[in-house]
This record gives sequence, structure tokens and C-alpha cells, in this order.
Amino acid sequence: MLCRAIVAALALSGPSFALWPVPKHSSTGNGTLFIDQTVQVTYNGEQVWWTPPNDAPGSPDFAETRIDNQQVTYTAGYVPPSGPHFTSKEIVQGGLSRTFGAIFQQGFVPWMLRQRDSNSEPALGGTRIRTLQIIQTKHDTADTFKPLNGAVNESYALDVDAKGHASLTAPSSTGILRGLETFTQLFFKHSSGTAWYTQLAPVSIRDEPKYPHRGLLLDVSRHWFEISDIKRTIDALAMNKMNVLHLHATDTQSWPLEIPSLPLLAEKGAYHKGLSYSPSDLASLQEYGVHRGVQVIIEIDMPGHVGIDKAYPGLSNAYEVNPWQWYCAQPPCGSFKLNDTNVEKFIDTLFDDLLPRLSPYSAYFHTGGDEYKANNSLLDPALRTNDMSVLQPMLQRFLDHVHNKVRKLGLVPMVWEEMILDWNATLGKDVVAQTWLGKGAIQKLAEAGFKVIDSSNDFYYLDCGRGEWLDFENGAPFDNNYPFLDWCDPTKNWKLMYSHEPTDGVSDDLKKNVIGGEVAVWTETIDPTSLDSIIWPRAGAAAEIWWSGKIDEKGNNRSQIDARPRLSEQRERMLARGVRGTPITQLWCSQVDVHNCESGNY
Ligand SMILES: *[C@@H]1O[C@H](CO)[C@@H](O)[C@H](O)[C@H]1NC(C)=O
Ligand SMILES: *[C@@H]1O[C@H](CO)[C@@H](O)[C@H](O)[C@H]1NC(C)=O
Ligand SMILES: *[C@@H]1O[C@H](CO)[C@@H](O)[C@H](O)[C@H]1NC(C)=O
Ligand SMILES: *[C@@H]1O[C@H](CO)[C@@H](O)[C@H](O)[C@H]1NC(C)=O
Ligand SMILES: *[C@@H]1O[C@H](CO)[C@@H](O)[C@H](O)[C@H]1NC(C)=O
Ligand SMILES: *[C@@H]1O[C@H](CO)[C@@H](O)[C@H](O)[C@H]1NC(C)=O
Repeated sequence: MLCRAIVAALALSGPSFALWPVPKHSSTGNGTLFIDQTVQVTYNGEQVWWTPPNDAPGSPDFAETRIDNQQVTYTAGYVPPSGPHFTSKEIVQGGLSRTFGAIFQQGFVPWMLRQRDSNSEPALGGTRIRTLQIIQTKHDTADTFKPLNGAVNESYALDVDAKGHASLTAPSSTGILRGLETFTQLFFKHSSGTAWYTQLAPVSIRDEPKYPHRGLLLDVSRHWFEISDIKRTIDALAMNKMNVLHLHATDTQSWPLEIPSLPLLAEKGAYHKGLSYSPSDLASLQEYGVHRGVQVIIEIDMPGHVGIDKAYPGLSNAYEVNPWQWYCAQPPCGSFKLNDTNVEKFIDTLFDDLLPRLSPYSAYFHTGGDEYKANNSLLDPALRTNDMSVLQPMLQRFLDHVHNKVRKLGLVPMVWEEMILDWNATLGKDVVAQTWLGKGAIQKLAEAGFKVIDSSNDFYYLDCGRGEWLDFENGAPFDNNYPFLDWCDPTKNWKLMYSHEPTDGVSDDLKKNVIGGEVAVWTETIDPTSLDSIIWPRAGAAAEIWWSGKIDEKGNNRSQIDARPRLSEQRERMLARGVRGTPITQLWCSQVDVHNCESGNY
């Protein structure tokens, strides 16, 4: 009871812990500080400012002020120069632009997070934050902008003293971006509409992530997504300190990726003319990611999940075959032929075109490898077998060829778990293995010496639990499948995701091989209309565990009761910034004392 009273007192103290993901170490006070556009920002001693791109002072997009008679304009519209050459200063300027945009233009009055009619707003006119001093203690390297697992140090230290001096120190520009994201979370808009404040001063935060790989997989083959939808998703990842967007770029359903040297792929493979990503679309997406500390990793799934038969016939088996259940997990099937030199030549042409365009922005290339069924080779006129022991050496040769080509082009291969666990492929120890079947696979892959990413469908599949999309005829098919649950039912509630950590069940000596996780958005029944609400704020639950771990500073499991109001607040912050996540509780619960919505021990 005593313990509970203390917790309640902490919770009642308001937004003290409303940072998401929760920092590793933080202490905050209850002092009020205001912030406005006159805050002076230095980066390694240099005053950093910029002018709006269209020289449009006075437009509502821009917040202006004057310092030392020079016009200084912070704008949420700062667009760094494009191209694969990044400077730390441009990265930081972009981050500052978004920070001030989030605070001044997208700030919100937190009525939904406060007791009704409570008088929690500070009186106007208090102390202002005058300076934000940003110090980067080490030089960025090329690795900073396309890091291999763990190559970039994302830590930061953020302090705001009671007199209104703020400082942010980090060894990398990525760490500065992470710290700025935390900085935005300190502030709310005042109901006067022209003031912004924190009630947490003084603030002292020392923060760094537990896992280096914190990602989201988005399938852009089963439904079409505009570049703007994907960029918004990158924005949202950065808001949650996630650092990887894995694009499952092609599948049998559609091939939306334009490959100039193989033009028929997108011409025949896109859902409709124009629904494809040009090389410059792809580059703009990857650049956008780099500027937000989010690496965009492209996957071309193979040897299964290949739907190129209409574009380049003769290289694959089983495309659109029936009954599809014999050859693949869902229609339409399709897979590369094994042991075929024409397939190798095709992959060389594909990779020679695509990978040099990816490598300026990404350290990894994902070669897929899930759900490949031996039965495909029954339909291969040259093979006519489904004997896995006969096919295994051919698959091994296929993978050797594919991975050596990836390495030659300067990237590190990633694969799905089945290539290793079902097909016994011998792969280089540089390869990152991604698991989705869960259930002990992480331990096995880690034991085999691979770096492992957890995408277990038991926890991390955001598409699950929304009903089956396959059609059923009346009669037995209907009766046998009623009430039409999908294969990975139930829904992965944020609470479930929050209870899981990638190293769960992995022996201590192998935990170091587990580099993080990816939540997955397979898009059979998801398109831009539902994208945000499917992902957010749920993915944030995984993001907090990946950033901060499941166990808190005192050695206890993190409390979901502490997490819930913070995640509700995070969702409000994301909404205000244009990401339409779904509520995780009723509005009444987010307005009252946190313990009023406990389920109790029933
Ligand atoms: C703010 O914190 C100080 C020091 O912990 C405490 O004495 C004071 O009562 C608090 N004020 C409010 C309004 O909670
Ligand atoms: C990251 O940098 C911080 C600050 O310099 C340092 O304390 C920390 O040990 C570094 N983390 C790693 C994993 O090297
Ligand atoms: C493979 O195909 C045969 C028909 O050729 C079918 O009977 C069998 O069920 C299929 N195997 C799988 C695993 O689907
Ligand atoms: C696999 O390809 C090699 C080289 O083209 C060829 O010599 C061999 O006969 C093929 N194996 C089968 C089972 O077709
Ligand atoms: C992989 O190895 C296991 C264990 O040795 C064996 O049972 C299985 O048949 C092998 N699979 C293939 C495709 O070689
Ligand atoms: C955390 O929760 C799990 C599952 O309820 C439990 O097995 C474990 O002992 C808990 N750990 C701590 C440190 O309380």
C-alpha cells in the first residue's frame, strides 16, 4: 500500500516521466520555463541559423526573430542540400528545424492529458530558455550516415538548468538528433496560443540505446504506398528513436521498384502505370532517412516471393500456379529457378543497377529467403524434384552467388531465418539473420554465430489479428474457417509488445549477438488509409524496450501502468506532428489519475 501511494504520488506529479522512449537516466524537477523563437542556438560554438527557402518571412510556416540585427529564422521547412554527401552541420540544422517546428508550429495544449478543469498551466511571463548549446564531441565518419550494427554512438546528454540554459552533448550527429527529439518532448503549447513551456526544469538526462537495430519492416509490394506515406513513417520512426526502415520492396504481388536496366520489371510488375519508385524517389527516401538517423534497408526477396514471369519469362517457377498451396504461402506464387546461370546473370544485372544506388546510404541489403518451398523445383523442367537434399547444394550455390555479389557491391547481406534453419545454408558470419517464426529461433541463430534481428510474429507482427482476407465459399470452406481468424491471430496489443525483449530466452553468452528487432507491417489488408493507425503508437512500445530494455533502473520489469500515460502522450505528440496513430485507452483514462484504469487482480 505504501509502495502504491508513492507510485501514485509520482504519477500525480504530472508529466515528469512523459518522455518516450524513457531515457536510461533522467532527473527532472517541477520548475517552469518558457521557450520562444528567440532562443539562441550554437553548434560547436557556431551560431546556427538559416533563412527560409522561399524567403517568405511572415508566412505562417515560419517563426522569425532578430538577433544582433541579423534576421534569424527557424523554420520547419529547412531542406538540406540533396545528394549522398552529408555534413554533420546539415544534419543538426535539419534536426533543429524539426525541433522548432514540433515545439512552435505543431505544439499542442495537453487538455487530454490533464484532469478536467485542472489549473495546471503556468502563469505567463516566467523565465525563458535563452540558449541551447549543442556540442558534438567527436567527428562523424562515413559510417555515421550508414552505420553497420553498433557503428554509431547514439548517446546524448541533455541538461536544462533553472535559469534557462540548455545544453545537448553527443559524440555523433545521430546522438544530437536523438537528444533533440527528447528536447521537443519537454514542451507543451500554452492555451494563450503564443507561449510554450516545460514544467520539468531542471532537467538532466543521460541516455543511450540498449540495442543498435530498432526497425520497422514495411511491405510496399502487397499495397502501394506513396513516397510521402513512407517519409511520414520515417518521421514517426525518428520520433520514437527507431533507426531502421526495412522496405520489403518486391514480392509476387507487385514489383514497384524501377530498375532502368531491366525496365520491364516495373512496367509489367507495378499495380498500375505510375505506381512505381524511380531511382530518384528511392534516393530521396534514403536521404530523408539519413537526415533523421533512420537507415533505409531494401529487401528483394528471393529465391521465393519472386513475381517476374510476365516481365522476364523463363527465369522462375510456379508464378500464378494453382493450387497455390502446394508451392507458396499465399497467391500468386513464384520463385527463382535454382542452378540456372541465366538467373545468376539476371541477378547480376539487377544488383549492378540497384545496389550502387543504395550503397551511399545503407550498409545492408536484404536478400529475403523466407517461405521457400522445395515443391517449386517440381515445376522446373531442368530439375523436376522436391528432394531437399538434392536441392540444398543448388540453393547453397544460389546464395553464395547472391551474397558474394552483394559484398562485391559494398553491402552486407541480410537473410530470413529459413535459409539457415530449414535449408542449412552455410553463410558468411557478416550476414545478419532475421527471425519471424520465433520460438527458439533466435537462440539457434545466435548459436550459429549470426547477428540476429527479432521479428517474431508472436509479438512483432502489426498486421495480425484483423481477420482472414482469403475468400471462402459457402459450405465446408466457410464452416471450417468460421470466424475467419487470420494465421497469426490475435492482435499484438502494445502491452504484449511491451512485455517482450529480443534477448528473452537467449543464453547470456549469446545475448551480444542479438542486435535488436523489427516490427513488421505486411500489407495484405493495409494501405495508406490505415497505415498510421496500424503502426502507431504500438510500434513505440517495442521502440521503448529496444531503447531502454524491459528492466528498469531498479531492476524491476517496467510498469505498464507507468508506460500507458506516457505512450498516450507520445501518441498525442505524434498526432500533432501529422502521424495519425490510434488511441490506446479511452479519453477519460488519460485525463484522470493513472490508477483509476487498472484492471485489478481478477
Ligand atoms: C517542487 O519541488 C520542490 C522540491 O522537490 C518541492 O519542495 C515543491 O513542493 C514542489 N512544488 C510543487 C508545486 O509541486
Ligand atoms: C557512447 O558515447 C558515450 C559518451 O561519450 C560513452 O559514455 C559511451 O560509453 C559510448 N557508448 C558506446 C557503446 O561506446
Ligand atoms: C507438393 O506438391 C505435391 C503435388 O505435386 C502435393 O501433393 C504436396 O502436398 C505438395 N507439398 C507441399 C508441402 O505443399
Ligand atoms: C546444375 O548446373 C550445373 C552447371 O550448369 C550442371 O552441370 C548440373 O548438371 C546442374 N545440375 C542439375 C541437377 O541440373
Ligand atoms: C538440415 O540439417 C538437418 C539436421 O542435420 C537435417 O535433418 C535436414 O534434413 C537438413 N536439411 C537440408 C535441406 O539439408
Ligand atoms: C518480469 O516479468 C516476467 C514475466 O512476468 C517474470 O518472469 C520475471 O521474473 C520478471 N522480472 C523481474 C526482474 O521482476
